[in-house]
Amino acid sequence: MRLKTLGVVLITAMAAFTMLYWFTDGARREAIAVEQDEELIHFGEIIYSDDPSRPEAAGCARCHGPIGEGGPIPGDPEGRSAPSLRTPALANKLRSNPNYVHLAVSYGGVVVSGNVNSLMPAWATEVGGPLNEQQVEAVVTLVEGWAEEAAENAPEEVEDTVEAGQQVYVAAGCQSCHGTELEGGSGPNLQTIGSELVVDLPIEPSQLDQMIADYDEDPRNFLELWIRDSAGNYNDGVATGMQPYPESVLSESQLTALITFLLDQTGE
Ligand code: HEC
Ligand code: HEC
Repeated sequence: MRLKTLGVVLITAMAAFTMLYWFTDGARREAIAVEQDEELIHFGEIIYSDDPSRPEAAGCARCHGPIGEGGPIPGDPEGRSAPSLRTPALANKLRSNPNYVHLAVSYGGVVVSGNVNSLMPAWATEVGGPLNEQQVEAVVTLVEGWAEEAAENAPEEVEDTVEAGQQVYVAAGCQSCHGTELEGGSGPNLQTIGSELVVDLPIEPSQLDQMIADYDEDPRNFLELWIRDSAGNYNDGVATGMQPYPESVLSESQLTALITFLLDQTGE
């Protein structure tokens, strides 16, 4: 009789324990995953940095800035810049290709921009770079997080003011090629874009005459066509060195404010 009671107690205890384990298992796994993710990101931050005391540091920060904000590439004779990695635009590229950052980091800028002279080197050991698979994974996870964060924080609806337009200019990553003061970089100087079109471009668009006519008629309309899709609207679909900005990347109100900011640049 006592043995029987003991048996019942034991079985009940086992069942309760199993159920408890079963219910908390998901949460436990999630906690472990979060911890592993944090470790991976922390490792990614070390790879990203140019900390001389860490031999595994790859020095992405030298070009992309200490926190990924982009900026001029030190020592580049042509004064070119590295793009910001904290842009909704990068998050959007990830949406159309989930491997985008992994590809760019592993095999270099050429695979994403098609530019054979891209200053972004290949990093994966399989193509002669310094980073093994785990190190690539860590820095990619870090950068993907930055892009997603930028996309989450970017307001879709913005006011049509010069100030709001300036914020869009930075958030959309325009400054990484045209400079924070619009002084130019890999893209042309835009400091007087509100009063005159830049016609002396590195890649002369095939429809330059149309650009000039459109600008003369209505600069706002020209800028809209150029920013949305410079290649499609003015270069017979051939790349111009400036990527398109479809509505999924720049909402209508963001584009309107951005153009208001650009038209305010008259060099005065
Ligand atoms: C020598 C300067 C330099 C270094 C160092 C460098 N990059 Fe880049 N990176 C660039 C340039 C320039 C581009 C633009 C490439 C292009 O358009 O061809 C770029 C592009 C990228 C892109 C694609 C961004 C986009 O919006 O398309 C990612 C992601 C990136 N770099 C991450 C990294 C990471 C991570 C590291 C470190 C492992 C790194 N970069 C190191 C210069 C650099
Ligand atoms: C990856 C670098 C890059 C980024 C990012 C970029 N641009 Fe450009 N942009 C260029 C280049 C390169 C050209 C010149 C194209 C050519 O040579 O045909 C250009 C040309 C232009 C022009 C034409 C100027 C003229 O008068 O002919 C405007 C306006 C412009 N960009 C605005 C912008 C704005 C606004 C953004 C952000 C939404 C932006 N760009 C983002 C590289 C860039």
